[in-house]
Amino acid sequence: MTDDRELGEVVVSAAALATRVHELGREIATDYEGRPPLLVAVLKGAFVFMADLVRAIDLPVEVDFMAVSSYGSATKTSGVVRIVKDLDLDLTDRHVIVVEDIIHSGLTLSYLRRNLFARGPASLEVCALLVREEPETAELPLRYVGFRIPPAFVVGYGLDFDERYRNVPDVRLYNSGRPSLA
Ligand code: IMP
Ligand code: MG
Repeated sequence: MTDDRELGEVVVSAAALATRVHELGREIATDYEGRPPLLVAVLKGAFVFMADLVRAIDLPVEVDFMAVSSYGSATKTSGVVRIVKDLDLDLTDRHVIVVEDIIHSGLTLSYLRRNLFARGPASLEVCALLVREEPETAELPLRYVGFRIPPAFVVGYGLDFDERYRNVPDVRLYNSGRPSLA
């Protein structure tokens, strides 16, 4: 399936992911009772998280997807965010939850918040599976967070390196042998 030499230690196990995602689902169901949310996943990285999360929310949720690009095929941020695929649904007066895979610099997120706010949602919150423990992420308005992880590049559970390893069930360190994130 994969070149195992590039897969490092498990940062978050599949079991821990399952437990935490169910907790988040229950929390969201409680918070949004009577105002069913529209979950917006940011592709591609959030697709696995989104699939598990929606099934853990016991409410009539709706889903939509958008794709933004903030990285090339390297592990270093380009500083450029661009919408590659936009939403199909109208956000006007909707209770929107943005579902993100991982927050690193917060660049993608701040761009998304501005862009989605401009569409007139009733509310807008963020649910991020992973947040890197870095100064940049300390102040970000994240309503739901799965795990705070050390600042290293990770793959699995939807996250890729160069489009690989999205199907790895755990979140694991990626051993690139290349320069790490700046
Ligand atoms: P930010 O804009 O720097 O916060 O980066 C956010 C996006 O970069 C995420 O949604 C991922 O697509 C990608 N990314 C950041 N860190 C990682 C990582 O460790 N593994 C895989 N993708 C990552
Ligand atoms: Mg992403």
